[in-house]
Amino acid sequence: MRMTRFGRTGRELPSISVGTWSHGGPKVVGKREVGWSGHDDAQALAALGAAAEHGIVHWDTADVYGDGHAEELIGSLWDQVDRDRIFLATKIGWDPGPHGHHYHPTQIRERLERSLRLLRTDHVDLYYFHQCEFGRDDQYLEDAVALFRELRDQGKIRHIGLSDWDLHKLTRYAGTVEPDVVQPYRNVLDDDYEPSGLKAWVEKNDAGVAWFSPLKHGLLLGKYEAPATFEDGDMRNGIPGFRDQALLDHLRRCRDQVTERFGDRTSQPVLMALLGALLADCPTACVLLGLRNPEQVAAAAELGNLLTADEGRWVRELYRRTATE
Ligand SMILES: NC(=O)c1ccc[n+]([C@@H]2O[C@H](COP(=O)([O-])OP(=O)(O)OC[C@H]3O[C@@H](n4cnc5c(N)ncnc54)[C@H](OP(=O)(O)O)[C@@H]3O)[C@@H](O)[C@H]2O)c1
Repeated sequence: MRMTRFGRTGRELPSISVGTWSHGGPKVVGKREVGWSGHDDAQALAALGAAAEHGIVHWDTADVYGDGHAEELIGSLWDQVDRDRIFLATKIGWDPGPHGHHYHPTQIRERLERSLRLLRTDHVDLYYFHQCEFGRDDQYLEDAVALFRELRDQGKIRHIGLSDWDLHKLTRYAGTVEPDVVQPYRNVLDDDYEPSGLKAWVEKNDAGVAWFSPLKHGLLLGKYEAPATFEDGDMRNGIPGFRDQALLDHLRRCRDQVTERFGDRTSQPVLMALLGALLADCPTACVLLGLRNPEQVAAAAELGNLLTADEGRWVRELYRRTATE
């Protein structure tokens, strides 16, 4: 497994990490689908066990994935997996809770205790602000940051993380939060890393980076031939790309070209290209890959050294060409 120095955390971690959003199963909040269908507890547990065996030991979860179910699954594994080998990350910041705001100090304290209980551990290695939404006039920002630092001093969390889908927001708040790690949305189609200013901030501050949704939820693999819909409670129903035939055709053409170029280096050329393109221009980054079963873990474990900077650029340019070109 290729290793990365995870920025100023000082930790050497595999550049492929496990994301467990789908392990929470289907979920609806209000009218919004925010979970994943097709989840199976036994498969998810087997995936985590296989990940540990392959040295994929950075695991990412959140308090809201299945309302704690994904954390609970991880916490059930410590008789099979050595807790001390796992770099464990979780998050707070989507469920408003009973105190009026998701970053109200009482909410943060209660939620962290709940996460530690479900994860069956006395600390997490990385605790994230799940989104850069700190209330009107950022009224919760200062106290929330001070509390995270206090929790770090107490040893309940080892490092502070900051996440968001919007990289401009991440860049804006990074100066105040001073996170050790940022968790931004990035894949070869949706890529604001440089234009948002985040790249410059990361390099100046030696931050660790954990790219999320590197496959755009599986869409980019080129495995969909026709528009797809998913069962209720699956967030992919809200992603237009899954129903865009021209895009699906484009992604299958990209899959073929990538297979032609990298097929003699690995049995997983598409995965290697999509992930390698994100790692090639950021030496302190890993990718958070959603892995639902042992087969997907085995495919990720095949990847080895990934891409050079030039190859990464070639892949990004290939996918960005419009579907109608
Ligand atoms: N901070 C945030 O706000 C935030 C937001 C989103 C995600 N995340 C984190 O990032 C992680 C990854 O993102 P993501 O789950 O959105 O998606 P992703 O990694 O882009 O895609 C994962 C999906 O791709 C498919 N897949 C993976 N490996 C495959 C393989 N070898 N062959 C075929 N299909 C494969 C699986 O779905 P199917 O088998 O169903 O196709 C899998 O669930 C999350 O789990 C979470 O930890 C964080």
